[in-house]
Amino acid sequence: MTVSRRPLIAGNWKMNGCGESGMDLARQLAERMKGRDHHPFDMLVCPPFTMLSRVGEAVAGSGILLGAQDCHHQPAGAYTGNVSAAMLADVGCAYVIVGHSERRAQHGETDAVVKAKAEAAHIAGLIAIVCIGETEAERNAGNTLKVIKDQLAGSLPSSMRAVNTVIAYEPVWAIGTGRTPTNDEVEQVHACIRDRLTDDFGEAEAQATRLLYGGSMNAENAGELRALPDVDGGLVGGAGLKAETFWAICEA
Ligand code: PGA
Repeated sequence: MTVSRRPLIAGNWKMNGCGESGMDLARQLAERMKGRDHHPFDMLVCPPFTMLSRVGEAVAGSGILLGAQDCHHQPAGAYTGNVSAAMLADVGCAYVIVGHSERRAQHGETDAVVKAKAEAAHIAGLIAIVCIGETEAERNAGNTLKVIKDQLAGSLPSSMRAVNTVIAYEPVWAIGTGRTPTNDEVEQVHACIRDRLTDDFGEAEAQATRLLYGGSMNAENAGELRALPDVDGGLVGGAGLKAETFWAICEA
C-alpha cells in the first residue's frame, strides 16, 4: 500500500525567540508563505509559550501552523508552572511536541509521561509530535532499533492515529551537534518505525502517519533526507531560527 503523505517541516525554537527577534522571524516566514498560492508542504512553528499568541497573530492567514514545545498531562489543576494541552488549543495551537530528548533528559520525562502527554494532546484536539531517539552510547552498543521500538511501545497511547500523531526520530547525539546519521541509517530507523506502527495500529494508520527526522537538519542535507522513502519532513532546531535557512529547508 502506498499513501502520499503531506510533508511537514516544523521549527522547534526551544528557549529562543524572545520579543522582537521571535516576531521578526514569524513575520518573515509569513511573508514568504503568503507569496505562494500553493504549498506542497505544511510549515509549523513552535515558539516558546510566551510567544504563542503573538506569533499566532503574526502568521494568521499565511497557512503557517502553530505548535508548542510541551504540555502537561493533566487538563487543569494545581500544577504550578505548567501549561495544559487545552490551554495550547485555546491560544491557537494545532500541534504540540512531546517527549523531546531535552525534556526527557533535563526533566526526567519517561516514556509513560510522554504517553500521558500525547493522550492529553489528543483529548484537547491537538496533534502530538512524539519524539524518540537513541543516545550515542546506545547507538555504539548496536541498540538503536531496540531503543526505538521500546520508546515507541512506551510512548504511544492507544488514541494514536495518523491524523493526531506525528513521530519525530531525533538521534540524541545529532541534536545541535552538526552530526547526522547516514541516509541509510535514517531510512533504516524510519522503516523500522513504520513496521512497528503497522504491527500495533494497522497498515492504513502506519502508511498515513508522518515520520519526521530531526537532529542537525539544515539547508544542505534536507533535500537528501526528505528524499528517503520513509522521511516525511523534519523537526528543525538551530536552522529554524533564521527565516532564510528554515525556508531553504522547506524548499528542499
Ligand atoms: P537541531 O535540533 O536541529 O538544532 O539539531 C533539533 C531538535 O532538537 O528538535
